[in-house]
Amino acid sequence: MEPLVEKGLAKSIGVSNVNLQQLGEILRIAKVPCVNNQIENHPFLDQTGLIKFSKENNVSITAFGPLGSPERPWAPENDKNLRNDPVVKKIADSRKCTPVQILIAYNLSQGLVCAPKSTCVERIEENFKVISWCLVHTSALCSTYSLQISLRRGARPEHVLFADLRKVTCM
Ligand SMILES: NC(=O)c1ccc[n+]([C@@H]2O[C@H](COP(=O)([O-])OP(=O)(O)OC[C@H]3O[C@@H](n4cnc5c(N)ncnc54)[C@H](OP(=O)(O)O)[C@@H]3O)[C@@H](O)[C@H]2O)c1
Repeated sequence: MEPLVEKGLAKSIGVSNVNLQQLGEILRIAKVPCVNNQIENHPFLDQTGLIKFSKENNVSITAFGPLGSPERPWAPENDKNLRNDPVVKKIADSRKCTPVQILIAYNLSQGLVCAPKSTCVERIEENFKVISWCLVHTSALCSTYSLQISLRRGARPEHVLFADLRKVTCM
């Protein structure tokens, strides 16, 4: 990707599913630093260390699976649904909004880009409404942070062999 940026064929470089150690290594060896990392982020997965490090190093974050990716094919039968979590529901009730809006606001209030997916027009509209709501109600979200356990839904970044990545980078 770096030659593409140098030739003006790409504006900037983004990465995905990169953890804190991997991001540090990428920034150490990159000639063109990456500007965005797309990571799984929701109240069931504590990413505060990675988010802090990214901000300190000018790497913005896009949160994927912000609603807990309920449709993922490998979800277990007893999957813990974020939308039904009692803390999330309690905040939503008290703020007269939906649990999904709380989950999106959770990401926006951390200064992240949030990428929820919906195939339904009404839900997409519901999801967009959070932007104005979030500015007013950020403090209400504090208790969602207490949910941060470790329920990753996607692939573990450390399962990507970093030696391979370095080989690609040096080509
Ligand atoms: N970089 C990566 O490795 C990676 C990995 C996973 C996902 N992603 C990206 O992240 C984005 C979102 O992730 P995701 O699709 O896994 O999970 P998600 O956004 O957490 O959840 C999507 C699910 O939530 C439902 N939903 C959306 N808005 C809703 C609302 N207002 N009320 C009720 N249900 C609602 C959707 O159903 P309906 O469609 O029926 O509304 C869908 O079942 C996608 O664009 C995906 O491509 C990236």
